[in-house]
Amino acid sequence: MDDKLAEVRARLLKLSEAAEAEGEPLRWFEELYVGANRDSDEIPWARMEPHPKMVEWVAARPSVKGRALVVGCGLGDDAEWLSEAGFEVTAFDISQSSINWCSERFPESSVEYLAADLLAPPEEWLEGFDLVVEIHILQAIPEKIRDQAAVQLRSFLNNSGHVLCIGRLLGGSFPGDPPPPWPLSRTWLEGVFRGLRLDSFSHFVNEDAPEIDRYVASWSIAKA
Ligand SMILES: C[S@@+](CC[C@H](N)C(=O)[O-])C[C@H]1O[C@@H](n2cnc3c(N)ncnc32)[C@H](O)[C@@H]1O
Repeated sequence: MDDKLAEVRARLLKLSEAAEAEGEPLRWFEELYVGANRDSDEIPWARMEPHPKMVEWVAARPSVKGRALVVGCGLGDDAEWLSEAGFEVTAFDISQSSINWCSERFPESSVEYLAADLLAPPEEWLEGFDLVVEIHILQAIPEKIRDQAAVQLRSFLNNSGHVLCIGRLLGGSFPGDPPPPWPLSRTWLEGVFRGLRLDSFSHFVNEDAPEIDRYVASWSIAKA
């Protein structure tokens, strides 16, 4: 880990520990975005480009189209790519500052950006989407509220919808850094979306951190 990333990680851990101790475990995201002052180097997950595994997944499934919901959209690159790929995109994040940042980065965007909490989403999103994308969200949510977050994710799918999840996988010998994020177990992932069929599940690693196991997985409504 380089010095800058180590410094950013140390700040993140301090903010998340304080937020957890004060009973507001998700508060630190907004604090981190505010403190970054529009410097993406201060946001450890900011790739400033769409996730290549999402791009691959969508490119391989031309029949998946329509309305997409990007959960915890961060700085907006995944949402923008999906919009350019032809989806009608809604993208939200619990942090108002990240949403403001997206709007500044992409002033001409067709994406509908808004601040919202996955744990208390607008009712009109119920069964409203063909594709729901979460990248590094479930793993960033503490265990005690993670099941509830997954139930909400599933509730956004229409009757032919897909959910695509990308994140860190629990396993391997790498002891890892202190959380967040919390790597997710394959067993938890396989059982978490009631009534959905697991369509794909693959492991991968990133070249810059090959010691970290990751997964890309997708589910759809199981037809009787
Ligand atoms: C690890 S970051 C990943 C961001 C983005 N998906 C990416 O891959 O760059 C987690 C994001 O989820 C957002 N988030 C966390 N809890 C959330 C919630 N309950 N509802 C909506 N967004 C949430 C955070 O503000 C943050 O932007």
